[in-house]
Amino acid sequence: MARQISIGVLVSGNGTNLQSLIDAVEAKKLDAKIELVLSNKAGAYGLVRARNHGIPTEVLEHKEFSSREAYDQAVVDLLRRRGVELVVLAGFMRLLSPLFVRAYSNHIMNIHPALLPSFPGLHVQKKALEHGVRFSGCTVHFVNEECDEGPIIIQAVVPVFPDDTEETLAARILRQEHRIYPRAIQLYAEGRLHIVGRTVLVDRLKKDDAQVLIEPSLEG
Ligand code: GRF
Repeated sequence: MARQISIGVLVSGNGTNLQSLIDAVEAKKLDAKIELVLSNKAGAYGLVRARNHGIPTEVLEHKEFSSREAYDQAVVDLLRRRGVELVVLAGFMRLLSPLFVRAYSNHIMNIHPALLPSFPGLHVQKKALEHGVRFSGCTVHFVNEECDEGPIIIQAVVPVFPDDTEETLAARILRQEHRIYPRAIQLYAEGRLHIVGRTVLVDRLKKDDAQVLIEPSLEG
């Protein structure tokens, strides 16, 4: 049995990952309460999604703060005031300072639209296409002080086709993001994730070593 955890979701944009979390909570597939959705952009559509579901929202614009640390301290204060235990980055387009990462050490998750450690940073679909990889995907990881480099929780793999554009590849990856982010948070809620060095051990992991993907396929 999982206890209900209190999460705060940080968004800067469309918020489709936020929507997948809201849907999972409402479908009782995720034992979490979204205490707060916070954005650094007043126009982020993720805020509308939150309000549509009665979730409290806050906007903190970084230009109103004198430094990155001052901004991050204000965000941390808001999250703490709401009793947030796990911070969920869902398209939050800001690097977190060490102050933030230490305040919520091992209690911050991020989702990245590539198979880390390949293609960290920005414009990752473009980089994957230019590199000619046959597979890409998405990664949920705990956040440490380096960008896109913390311990990996879960990944999903998708094929990359020769006629893909950044948009078609991003859409294929995003569909899987919406499946793995709620799952990662549910594993956390169930107390099944243990960070050991730079790896994450998952209790009661089902192993299936028959699952193999080959692209181009062996047939045809
Ligand atoms: C996703 O591709 C996510 O992996 C990245 O930012 C994007 C956010 O999309 N970190 P959305 O706002 O959740 O639709």
